[in-house]
Amino acid sequence: MRAVIYDRYGDPEVLSVAEIPVPTPGPDQVLVRVQATSINLSDWETLRGTPLYSRIGGIRAPRRPVLGSDIAGRVEAVGSAVTLFAVGDEVYGDNLMLKGGFAEYAVAPQSALARKPAELSFAEASTLPQAAAIASQGTAGVADGMSVLINGAGGGSGAFAIQLAKRAGAHVTGVDNADKLTFMRSVGADEVIDYRAADFTRTGPYDFILDLVAHRSVFAYRRAVARGGRYRCAGGTTRALLRMTTVGVLAGMATGRNLRVLAVKEGPAHFTPLAEACVAGQIGIHIDRSFPLEETASALAYVGAGRALGKVVVEIG
Ligand SMILES: NC(=O)c1ccc[n+]([C@@H]2O[C@H](COP(=O)([O-])OP(=O)(O)OC[C@H]3O[C@@H](n4cnc5c(N)ncnc54)[C@H](OP(=O)(O)O)[C@@H]3O)[C@@H](O)[C@H]2O)c1
Repeated sequence: MRAVIYDRYGDPEVLSVAEIPVPTPGPDQVLVRVQATSINLSDWETLRGTPLYSRIGGIRAPRRPVLGSDIAGRVEAVGSAVTLFAVGDEVYGDNLMLKGGFAEYAVAPQSALARKPAELSFAEASTLPQAAAIASQGTAGVADGMSVLINGAGGGSGAFAIQLAKRAGAHVTGVDNADKLTFMRSVGADEVIDYRAADFTRTGPYDFILDLVAHRSVFAYRRAVARGGRYRCAGGTTRALLRMTTVGVLAGMATGRNLRVLAVKEGPAHFTPLAEACVAGQIGIHIDRSFPLEETASALAYVGAGRALGKVVVEIG
């Protein structure tokens, strides 16, 4: 089968298209003929090997030769213990542990997958698993009338998070680079901030902050949150995340603020509710661009350069 492989961390140039064997599913696994795989910041991080946590399981060299975790496709074969799916089923899911989505076939544990709603295309379904889980859990607790700030809001998870916070009745501020301000407004942000032009930790305080790209000191974040408010970071530099889990928690408690790292739970239970909201027309899916499998390196470079508005998809079928 055709696959996009790499054997060392680096820029997209380390990727190449190759013929490799079709993987064999284990007893509890499903072989998926991949139709579409969306790109997440985690793919970019695991390509580059930075932040350090992206090297878990492969400190010196990548643990898996094929990236791509948010897959959508048709079940081609099932392992002996699979009970949830049959050959021909249309599925989608976040295959974060095994990856392999930038290829014609991927194996995934049945527990990672859900049946694809017929109303969504494979490309649309592939945008949901990881970003929907982050956005849903990252906005849990947002309520009517709250002032909410989302940092890194112009990307894949952020576009869903803005919409969820607006549906909850919040006043939403989106922070991202200047090229994404119009896009953030188009998905519902009331206010937008270019992070290169203004410091959001001095424009608040906000009742609730979801940070997708944390890199500041805990004291800057504490300043940005109103007393009684919450700050949740889902991603960022290793240093910022470590500081938040230690000093941040204590600094927040001491001043009546709840500051935490968000450990995102994976699996269908965490992304199918948002898929249902998309099918019902309550939440929009925004695909900026689609690339063919052979151009996966360009797709990753496009996301890595910060140009993507919403999601970018690699279409394989
Ligand atoms: N906690 C968990 O369990 C868990 C699980 C999976 C993923 N994650 C993390 O969750 C995050 C989700 O990201 P995603 O896939 O939605 O990413 P994405 O689509 O790449 O969006 C991230 C956005 O942040 C922007 N950005 C970069 N630096 C910024 C800064 N200093 N200030 C404001 N905005 C900035 C980016 O634009 P530019 O770079 O172009 O400026 C981009 O628009 C990632 O950090 C990922 O590692 C966490």
